[in-house]
Amino acid sequence: MSQLNGAHDMSHGISTHEAVQRLRDGEVVAIPTETVYGLAASIEHPEALTSIYTLKGRPKDNPMILHGASIEQLLPFVEGWSDVHQACADAFWPGPLTLILRASERIPSVVTAGLDTVAIRVPNHPLALEILEQTGPLAAPSANLSGKPSATKASHVNDDFGDAVAVVDGDQASIGLESTVVWAVEDTWRILRPGLIGAEEIDQVANITVDDTSARVEATQSEETDQTPLSPGTKYRHYTPKAKVLWLDMKQHTKPEFTNTTSILFITNSEQNHSEIETLKRKNNAVHHHHASTLDLLAKQLYDWFRSADRQDIDIILIEQFKPVTPTDFTLVNRITRAIN
Ligand code: TXA
Ligand code: MG
Repeated sequence: MSQLNGAHDMSHGISTHEAVQRLRDGEVVAIPTETVYGLAASIEHPEALTSIYTLKGRPKDNPMILHGASIEQLLPFVEGWSDVHQACADAFWPGPLTLILRASERIPSVVTAGLDTVAIRVPNHPLALEILEQTGPLAAPSANLSGKPSATKASHVNDDFGDAVAVVDGDQASIGLESTVVWAVEDTWRILRPGLIGAEEIDQVANITVDDTSARVEATQSEETDQTPLSPGTKYRHYTPKAKVLWLDMKQHTKPEFTNTTSILFITNSEQNHSEIETLKRKNNAVHHHHASTLDLLAKQLYDWFRSADRQDIDIILIEQFKPVTPTDFTLVNRITRAIN
């Protein structure tokens, strides 16, 4: 095992009690959520908020999500909270839904990157909620270096930030993909970043039409033609391992030609291809293989597999194509397409 892999196995978890102390003292702490780990700081500490951008190497014009333990904790920071927002919050919080509303004057501009709107969310993780109850609202982007796949395990945070960031280890994120981000200003709701909660589900509980064309079309657009001016974050490269990522269409039998030095990771989701690739793997030790028996499991494992591919110096990652049906499927297509482009 390489030194890098050894370091990866080390865990430096701190207790929630210690996390609360450190956050109150103005430190940045990584906390678990059900989607991905967050790199959190108290909104009472502007220097800590600023240092999040520096730590991540994040462009200063990309705003952060404000996390709270409850709706009540978040309400002072938004304007225009309506029955529709309330219905959404009642149905989906705590959970993987981020709502963007007009910001109140109480929100530090370093959180919103100077915009007049703010993104808010109540995460569904017992440790995050325990911390937030004691610290009050925390601003947190995903706990990864800018451009890298999000962190879905405490060890991923250690890999990216080493000793510079203490982590509360809340186990592997149960969802593994970032929250749905919804533009929920006035009556024109719109999905800016697809996630596990889809437009239809929001429409059902809140009786509001949510435009999700960008979420669906985006998957076929390249970064350059991205027409989503509302969410600064979506214009940046995301979720990207070092390896070249490609879709694998087994039916077309267009299996790429390998040279002996090319190491390839196959990620399959169907039983038939599972066994076919296992056979290939037995014959060629440059072939690696991960299999997800369901797309929910693929969602949970994807970033971990991207990250382990980086540690193993994989050159090419081939992901078996699938026909997206559920919001999870569409979210996977969105994130994989972004890793490809
Ligand atoms: O699941 C998640 O959402 C995770 C966990 C930690 O909560 N957080 C997360 O944060 O993914 P981040 O910063 O990596 O992604 C937040 C996205 C970015 O694309 C950002 O541009 C967008 O939300 N965003 C935040 N505030 C915004 C605002 N006021 N207007 C438009 N987009 C906003
Ligand atoms: Mg992120």
